[in-house]
Amino acid sequence: MSLNCCIVDADAANRQEMAHFLSGHGVAAVTQIQRIDQLPAVLNASDPPRLVVVHIDPNPADQLQRLEPLIRSHPNSAFFVMTNVLETSLVLDAMHAGVKEFVPLPVNQQKFLVAIERIAQLGREEKRAKVLHFIPTTGGCGSTTVACNIAASLAKNAKVLLIDLDLVRGTAASAFDVRPRYSIADLMDPTTELDSALLDNALTIHRNSGLAILSRPELCEDAQRINRQGLIRLLGVVSRMFDYVVLDSLMSTEQTYQAAIQQADLNILVMQLNVPSTKNTERFMGTLRRMGEDMAKVKVIVNRSTKRGYDIDADEVERALGVKIAWSVPNDFKNAIAAINYGEPVILRSPRADMSDSLQGLVQMLNGRTAGKK
Ligand SMILES: Nc1ncnc2c1ncn2[C@@H]1O[C@H](COP(=O)(O)OP(=O)(O)OP(=O)(O)O)[C@@H](O)[C@H]1O
Ligand SMILES: [Mg+2]
Repeated sequence: MSLNCCIVDADAANRQEMAHFLSGHGVAAVTQIQRIDQLPAVLNASDPPRLVVVHIDPNPADQLQRLEPLIRSHPNSAFFVMTNVLETSLVLDAMHAGVKEFVPLPVNQQKFLVAIERIAQLGREEKRAKVLHFIPTTGGCGSTTVACNIAASLAKNAKVLLIDLDLVRGTAASAFDVRPRYSIADLMDPTTELDSALLDNALTIHRNSGLAILSRPELCEDAQRINRQGLIRLLGVVSRMFDYVVLDSLMSTEQTYQAAIQQADLNILVMQLNVPSTKNTERFMGTLRRMGEDMAKVKVIVNRSTKRGYDIDADEVERALGVKIAWSVPNDFKNAIAAINYGEPVILRSPRADMSDSLQGLVQMLNGRTAGKK
């Protein structure tokens, strides 16, 4: 069963027995903790448990009350509670708290396994968006431009969400000339359920492409409301609603951006063929390595490349970085600047331009359909 699980039980022997039972039935990873107050750290890890089994005796009502906010703020984890107390009011409270399975003790093994299999099955059917994380390596290298164009292109054939993680200066909404009423800051409160009604309100749809956009906050100071836990929860929920989630991001190791890096399927470093950009790309690749990131998930792409000899040599850059440049988008100042001033990405506004052609190729490459080219 491709399911990771956390057992919460004060009694060591009980914990062991349950862990043994679960791993004996193919549950892949089992974490054991003693108390509910240890749960937040487990739930906020980068790979949170999909199943949490909590023994709520000897004070079941009290324990349930403490669990409730955690259940609400972690919709991607299924909670089971086990108890000796079989009172209707307790079962109802468990239901209202969002508990997936009420397990009377002693455990009926057959029923318990069916319930676990149901959770594992849900995971298999669950849609998982591909998360593309675009990181600029110098100011103005065109990371936002590339992210917006890729998002617009993908939106022709898929459900795509673009999230602006440049939380103070972001221009994603402006690139599509939309005026969002809500922003990512409105989706951070852990006590508010991220249901489809709330998300429908918060996302702005770009009419021409169907792309959904989640903008940066309007008030600069609201950027502080975005945090690691909030972003992980948000990505967990939107990943089940969209085929692709495109993150227009920053080169940062702050907690929120670390979360974005870890949650991404691809971290795409956007650079220009100049010395400062190469240095920063090299520095950030070192950081990603030290963070223990899977470097197979990291792609380096060049933007604004010129054929006129202004650029430094791509081969030299590759030697310095120790990786191949996965793609190269040509410089096209005229179309790029017209697009941002008009509020429509180049790929939609000037589909025949060389820059659009290259960006289309980049989409194919990111989807693994073509190998990279220089
Ligand atoms: N391929 C290109 N050819 C010419 N100009 C481009 C190209 N791509 C982007 N630009 C221009 O470069 C400028 C910066 O682009 P953009 O805002 O996308 O960069 P960025 O890397 O996201 O910057 P920041 O680091 O501030 O987030 C814009 O004026 C944009 O029009
Ligand atoms: Mg940007």
